[in-house]
Amino acid sequence: MGTMTSPAPRTDAPTDTPDVPEARASARDLVKVYGSGTTAVRALDGVDVDFARGRLTAIMGPSGSGKSTLMHCLAGLDSPTSGSVVIDGQEISRLSQRRLTALRRTRVGFVFQAYNLVPTLTAAENITLPLDIARTHVDRAWFDEVVDSVGLRDRLHHRPSELSGGQQQRVACARALVSRPSIVFADEPTGNLDSRSAGEVLAFLRRSVDELDQTVVMVTHDPRAASYAHRVVFLADGRLAGELHDPSQQDILDALALAADDGSPPAGLAAPGPAAPVGRHAAPVDPA
Ligand SMILES: Nc1ncnc2c1ncn2[C@@H]1O[C@H](COP(=O)(O)OP(=O)(O)OP(=O)(O)O)[C@@H](O)[C@H]1O
Ligand SMILES: [Mg+2]
Repeated sequence: MGTMTSPAPRTDAPTDTPDVPEARASARDLVKVYGSGTTAVRALDGVDVDFARGRLTAIMGPSGSGKSTLMHCLAGLDSPTSGSVVIDGQEISRLSQRRLTALRRTRVGFVFQAYNLVPTLTAAENITLPLDIARTHVDRAWFDEVVDSVGLRDRLHHRPSELSGGQQQRVACARALVSRPSIVFADEPTGNLDSRSAGEVLAFLRRSVDELDQTVVMVTHDPRAASYAHRVVFLADGRLAGELHDPSQQDILDALALAADDGSPPAGLAAPGPAAPVGRHAAPVDPA
C-alpha cells in the first residue's frame, strides 16, 4: 500500500478530530454502564479513540476490560450510555433504528469468534447473505477479489461443516468485507483457531488492509495476532491505557508483562489521564 502523506480532507469527517482526517470510526467520552444501582458495571469509562482508514488495529486488555463492549458500541450493535460514536462521519447514536440497521448492513462488517455462518448455505451463499438480505447488488468483481484474496476459490460450494475452522473464519471475513464496508470489527477472530489457521486469517485481515484498502479493528488476547496490526490499543477497566505502533511480538509481550508486574495498565500509567507511550514505537494517544 502506498503511504498516505497528505490525505484529502473529508468533508464528512468528524469536525472535532482535525488531526485524524480519515478516521473511519471515532469514540468520544464513550461510557457504557450495564445494570443499575449497586450491581451497575461501568464497562466503558470514558473512551476516546480514533481508527484511521487503511489501518489494522488490535485491541488488547484483560478479560472484562471492555473490549467487546467497545466493539459492539462502535459497530452499532449496542448503544452507549453516553458519549458519541462516529462511523464514516455519521454520529450513529442519532440515527433511527432503520438507518442504523442500514448502516450496519452496508458500512460495517463484523467478524465473531464463533464464525456465525449459516450451516445450510454454501460458502458463497454465506458470503453474499448480508447483501442478499439487504437486496443489494453483489459487485462480482469485488466478490472475486475478496474470494481470491481470502483463498477460498475452490471452497465456494462447500457448506460450513465441510470446511476447517480457519476456512470457516475466512468465509466469515469475506462476508464482512463483501459490502465494501467502511470498517470491519473482528472480536477475537482467531480465538477458536489453531496457530496455522489463525495465521491464515490474520494474513488475510492484514492483506485486506494493505491491498484492498480496508480498515480493520480486531480484539485479541494473542500477542502474535496483535503483531500483525499497525497499532495496538490497550484497554484496562474500561479505559484506554496506552498504545503501540508497528509493534513486534516482543514489544507487545513486554507491555503486557509490565502491566502484569505492577498491576497497572500496559502503559505503566495510572488511570485517569492521557495514555502514555509504551515501547520503542510508541506514540501518545490522540489527546482529543
Ligand atoms: N450484557 C451485559 N450485562 C451486564 N454486564 C455486562 C454485559 N456485557 C458485558 N458486561 C460486563 O462489562 C464488562 C466488560 O465486558 P466485555 O465483554 O466488554 O469485556 P472483554 O474485555 O470483551 O472481556 P473478554 O476478554 O473476556 O471477552 C465486564 O465486567 C462484563 O461482565
Ligand atoms: Mg470480549
